Amino acid sequence: MIPKQIIDHILEVARVDEIIGEFVQLKRRGSNLLGLCPFHNEKTPSFTVSPTKGIYKCFGCGKSGSAIGFLMEHEHFSYPEAIRFLADKYQIEIEEEHIKVDAGNYDEQLRESLFVILSFAQKYFSTQLNEHSEGVSIALPYLQERGFDESIIQKFQLGYSLNKWDAFYDAAKKEGFEDEFLIKAGVIAEKNGKHFDNFRGRIIFPIHNITGRVIAFGARQLKKEANSPKYLNSPETDIYYKSKVLYGLHQARNSISKKNECYLVEGYTDVISMHACGIENVVASSGTSLTNDQIRLIGRFTKDICILYDGDEAGIKASLRGIDLILEQGLNVRVVTFPEGDDPDSFAKKHSAFELREYIEKNRIDFLRFKASLLMKDTGDDPIKKTTAINEIVRTLSKIPNSIDRSIYLKECSQIMLVDENVLISELNKIIRKELKKDFGPNMGAAVESSVDSTSNAAREMIYTALSPSEFQESIIIRLLLLYSDQNISSEKNKNVPLFDFVLNEIDEDIKFEDELYAYILEELKKIKSRGEPINLNYFIEHEREDVRDEVNSLISSPYQLSDKSKYEKKGIYIPEEKEILPNWVIKGINSLKMKTIIKELKSVHAQIKECNDEIRLHELLEEKMRLDELKKRLSERLGIVVIR
Ligand code: CTP
Ligand code: MN
Repeated sequence: MIPKQIIDHILEVARVDEIIGEFVQLKRRGSNLLGLCPFHNEKTPSFTVSPTKGIYKCFGCGKSGSAIGFLMEHEHFSYPEAIRFLADKYQIEIEEEHIKVDAGNYDEQLRESLFVILSFAQKYFSTQLNEHSEGVSIALPYLQERGFDESIIQKFQLGYSLNKWDAFYDAAKKEGFEDEFLIKAGVIAEKNGKHFDNFRGRIIFPIHNITGRVIAFGARQLKKEANSPKYLNSPETDIYYKSKVLYGLHQARNSISKKNECYLVEGYTDVISMHACGIENVVASSGTSLTNDQIRLIGRFTKDICILYDGDEAGIKASLRGIDLILEQGLNVRVVTFPEGDDPDSFAKKHSAFELREYIEKNRIDFLRFKASLLMKDTGDDPIKKTTAINEIVRTLSKIPNSIDRSIYLKECSQIMLVDENVLISELNKIIRKELKKDFGPNMGAAVESSVDSTSNAAREMIYTALSPSEFQESIIIRLLLLYSDQNISSEKNKNVPLFDFVLNEIDEDIKFEDELYAYILEELKKIKSRGEPINLNYFIEHEREDVRDEVNSLISSPYQLSDKSKYEKKGIYIPEEKEILPNWVIKGINSLKMKTIIKELKSVHAQIKECNDEIRLHELLEEKMRLDELKKRLSERLGIVVIR
């Protein structure tokens, strides 16, 4: 347990703005700081930090609290973990106290005991490496030979486990650690009542959690031995979940935030070698193939990942898998391939630090080029092979959640692979359709299917939009209401209706805006209209609420408020004038929103139907499903888009 006076000391020196500033970009506004709230989705900042009061508060979602509270909420730390994080940040030494596990808060105390054991083990292995004759004569030279100098060894707390059955076990028993916990910590094994060390005769790579506490070890053999794996890793324990940990993240986190990019490598030694070359924003998924949890972990620090795997077949295969996973999480991914057989570690060994940095800088390519060149390498003129290649690449593009990004890559892809964009779009739609079927069952699939089949631009965009976040659709509708309220538009059912009435008529029935800000602006618009006044943009631009002012400003200045038009035009993508496509946009925006709502409800109903054992309830659910199906059909008919075949 951490002594009270140390906690008090930590709380005294900790500054709320410095701590939160590590996770959220904050800008000074008077005596407070302002940023985008990390707890909910927003585009205009409403998250404030007050250094004088020592608290944060979000005016969007209402979350508030102290620095410790922030760490517990944002990093999912327990209280002691948050304290330790701060101790580490402010370099305040915490004397680990040996604790006895007793009844009561068993889990928390068990975890705490494991931390204490691993911290002890790490120090023990370090001492053996640097002071024991075996460490000094065999292990240390091995590390030096690999180019790891003293400061790097210290930075990564590398160690050595003697080639004896019970050297560590003896030391641990002398400290009073109990067998049960040594085994639970994954450092000791037991066989026939005998206890022995897990990592005999191996170099020790401690694995740290984000706060810098040791949670596991990777242990490498010194030289190749038959019948023994190169690495032995700690088993999963109560403090070590492989799939949620990235090797090197603790040492890399500041650099990742600063550089706004994270390098992803395969092994412990790649991470360490890159640090030795002065590159610190690097992590490895050591011991597992890359997981979604690991990607999300990186995503807390940067949206840009660059994969640096071995250039051999296995490395390329792992890169391709990584690309899809990273895209699916909505992050950007680039790739650097090394000459076959080289990884960052071996490359660093053959070249200078400068050359490694330059190589990475010059050979980083976006995933699309990487994948395309790989696929096109051996297709030649073979049409079948080419089709397979196109399929493969489009499958990857289908993972990108943002529809605008996706269409940009489609365009780029058509240029790189010399394939008509429409062919790619049709392939993409096939895949999306399949996914939809998987998610929503055959019926729902059919609904979207026929509009996918249509090659018209409107239908295609409608699909993209239907699959993008509803916030986007809401923003489109608000934008149109602000700009073109009084303009008449026509659909098949309604001829020459003012846009405002048309929209309200459509959305009032069954759509609720999810985004609080858009919902609020809509209410404001309605109020103005109910007084019979025209929409006056100045009212919003000078609105008392700052977030309303900001949002309206950005909404009315660019047709694609998610990013700017010039970015797309530079890439050769034409964006039509909005007035040209106004009716389409309105219908599409509303239709997509409704579609979205219905899809969501249908999905939930389908899930319930699957689970349901009660006959009466099942009947209700089926009726609900029919109602939704009907609603969907009606809505599409009314809006003049044929959806159902
Ligand atoms: N790995 C493992 N068990 C093995 C082999 C590899 O857990 N038997 C994991 C380790 O985390 C290792 C990573 O996979 O770091 C990458 O493997 P490899 O490239 O073979 O190891 P390196 O770390 O590069 O080690 P070295 O350079 O010393 O060969
Ligand atoms: Mn290696």
